Amino acid sequence: MSTSSLDAYWMPFTANRLFKKAPRMLARAEGMYYRTPEGREVLDGVAGLWCVNAGHGRPKIVKAIAEQAAEMDFAPPFQMGHPKAFELADRLVEIAPKGLNKVFYTNSGSEAVETALKIALAYHRARGEGSRTRLIGRERGYHGVNFGGISVGGIVANRKMFGTLLTGVDHIRHTHDPARNSFSVGQPAHGADLADDLERLVALHDASTIAAVIVEPVAGSTGVLLPPQGYLQRLREICDKHGILLIFDEVITGFGRTGQPFAAQTFGVTPDLMTVAKGLTNGCVPMGAVFAKQAIHDAFMNGPEHLIEFFHGYTYSAHPLACAAALATLETYADDGLLTRATDMQDHFSQALHSLKGLPHVIDIRNIGLVGGIELAARSGEPGKRAFDVFLDCWEQGLMIRTTGDTIALSPPLIIQAEHIDKIVDTLATAIKRVA
Ligand SMILES: Cc1ncc(COP(=O)(O)O)c(C=O)c1O
Repeated sequence: MSTSSLDAYWMPFTANRLFKKAPRMLARAEGMYYRTPEGREVLDGVAGLWCVNAGHGRPKIVKAIAEQAAEMDFAPPFQMGHPKAFELADRLVEIAPKGLNKVFYTNSGSEAVETALKIALAYHRARGEGSRTRLIGRERGYHGVNFGGISVGGIVANRKMFGTLLTGVDHIRHTHDPARNSFSVGQPAHGADLADDLERLVALHDASTIAAVIVEPVAGSTGVLLPPQGYLQRLREICDKHGILLIFDEVITGFGRTGQPFAAQTFGVTPDLMTVAKGLTNGCVPMGAVFAKQAIHDAFMNGPEHLIEFFHGYTYSAHPLACAAALATLETYADDGLLTRATDMQDHFSQALHSLKGLPHVIDIRNIGLVGGIELAARSGEPGKRAFDVFLDCWEQGLMIRTTGDTIALSPPLIIQAEHIDKIVDTLATAIKRVA
């Protein structure tokens, strides 16, 4: 391996100084495992970063990317098309919640969020309701890192350094309620009424000023928060009552994570717009997308036919490599039945996870499908440090997890076997006991 000073690379969402003192390097990946440059095996407890749902190094995907690079490296997406972009949209619509039958491509989850927010605003304007300019997010929400996303997002560290953000944004309450719901298996019983907070904002701003509400069906980056039973249904009803669009950000829940292709299907609630990324290409090539209902798309399709209908898009929208990777990814998911496999594995996963109850500092465990959150009590004056120490201990033991605040998040590849689940939980138990 070539050497470098580690100096020039400013790493994203990383404690740069600490990392560069003791780097955690990954060099290879196959199936459920990474390997370090020294050849040490590391079990992947988080599908890379909620991306690699089919496991690493899947041959069909590798081949599709290599062949596409040789056949056609790039095609401009503005006023031009290529067959795989259309074929992929057809395949995506087949597995999407019914009614979400239009697909707009982006290159990441953050871009998908910006795109969905812009579609929502432009849709209302195109229909003659241009007063609907407000966007509503939720406290503790994560919608990527661009300005729209951090404006509707609700994680203070992601917002406080960046000025006034978008104007006209408000937030409904988050759904974390450990007093009533701690150690719930699956959806918590209490808190459907928290959706009524949207009525408070409607009363404050008037529905005629509100364009859309965006939520993650299961919030991931804020520490794995599940929707209380009936909550998403209630949100849907309130949006319908007031003509507000409902956007589900499925960047982490999409592509089988909760036991159905999308969380909208798991929870039986269909949004008007839905953002995806990550699992769309199994993490192999950057790609995101927004699904839209027919009526939203159709509202744009007026005026002279030679005019562009929606002034938005990216140079790399529908990139040929990304489309080839996504098509091969969907095939791989179908070959292995991965889009519903979390349903088969969730009982074992749930039991294993909840066996950690009673270990020191474990104050809550939350899970659905193949997503798990283990919340630890914060050390006094050092928020996030206890979980980070568990992360470091796991890394030393050969397990990659993720932490956010003092919550450990698990989202393993959907190819996981029972013995991997047991290994993850045993390693975590050792780490949690060792890290006081
Ligand atoms: C719900 C949600 N939305 C958006 C994003 C942003 O995606 P990206 O990092 O690809 O921009 C993420 C990333 O974790 C996410 O979890």
